[in-house]
Amino acid sequence: MIGIFDSGIGGLTTVKAVMKKLPGYDIVYFGDTARTPYGTKSCKTIINYSLENSKFLLENGAKIIIMACNTASSVATHKVESYFTDTPVFEVISPAVEKALEQSKKQQIGIIGTRGTIKSKVYEKMIKKLNPSTRIYSAPCPLLVPLVEEGWINRPETTTIIKKYLHPLKARQIDTLVLGCTHYPVLKDIIQQKIGKKIALIDSAEAVADKVVNYLNANPDLDKCMSKNGQTDFFVSDVTDQFKKTAKSIIKKDIELKHIEF
Ligand code: DGL
Repeated sequence: MIGIFDSGIGGLTTVKAVMKKLPGYDIVYFGDTARTPYGTKSCKTIINYSLENSKFLLENGAKIIIMACNTASSVATHKVESYFTDTPVFEVISPAVEKALEQSKKQQIGIIGTRGTIKSKVYEKMIKKLNPSTRIYSAPCPLLVPLVEEGWINRPETTTIIKKYLHPLKARQIDTLVLGCTHYPVLKDIIQQKIGKKIALIDSAEAVADKVVNYLNANPDLDKCMSKNGQTDFFVSDVTDQFKKTAKSIIKKDIELKHIEF
């Protein structure tokens, strides 16, 4: 099974990308809806939650772990990797960085994410390490997660907020923009419209799914161990009608959210 966790429901964008690129592979998802959001929490807390979430996925049959949450990927990857040394762990930052560097011709890259992700400067550090001459402009967009959670996708208020957040990045004439948060792929069309049609958008959900495909191709023994019955289990630490509604709007079908408590 492919194990995927997120701070909540937004990580279903990664589930969707994995389902598209690895059809038939069994998936176990954990959304930490009781403790969401992670974007405003301390590093220590995010690390503890990420370790608990990974343990849960492994106990439920995961053979690999995808940390769909950008905030968890930003601050907890090293700890998760060092605790679960026998399990391949995929974070969403490096696949997005690699794609952004491939795409950007002017080497002017914008990053948007939660406050936690932007504050960690993880994207900047990784991009600079791979290509020191790249100019990076980042902007936290804290209102976008609650807007997606509320289902305010096509509201004029959301468009106005996106325009305001993207304005400084547009002024810097970036040619590539990394959507550094689970929820932003849901707003892709509006983001594209406001940043400009010519700007390449990098979706970290798609990028990590591609990385997993390549990894499984390169590791056929592990691939053989992955169950492929087209089954997906969705576990969450809290269930509300709103979570159900948001889940349905992201994954575009009715799914059962199974409640678990740690
Ligand atoms: N999953 C988080 C991320 O990708 C967004 C929601 C949160 O702040 O927990 O950064």
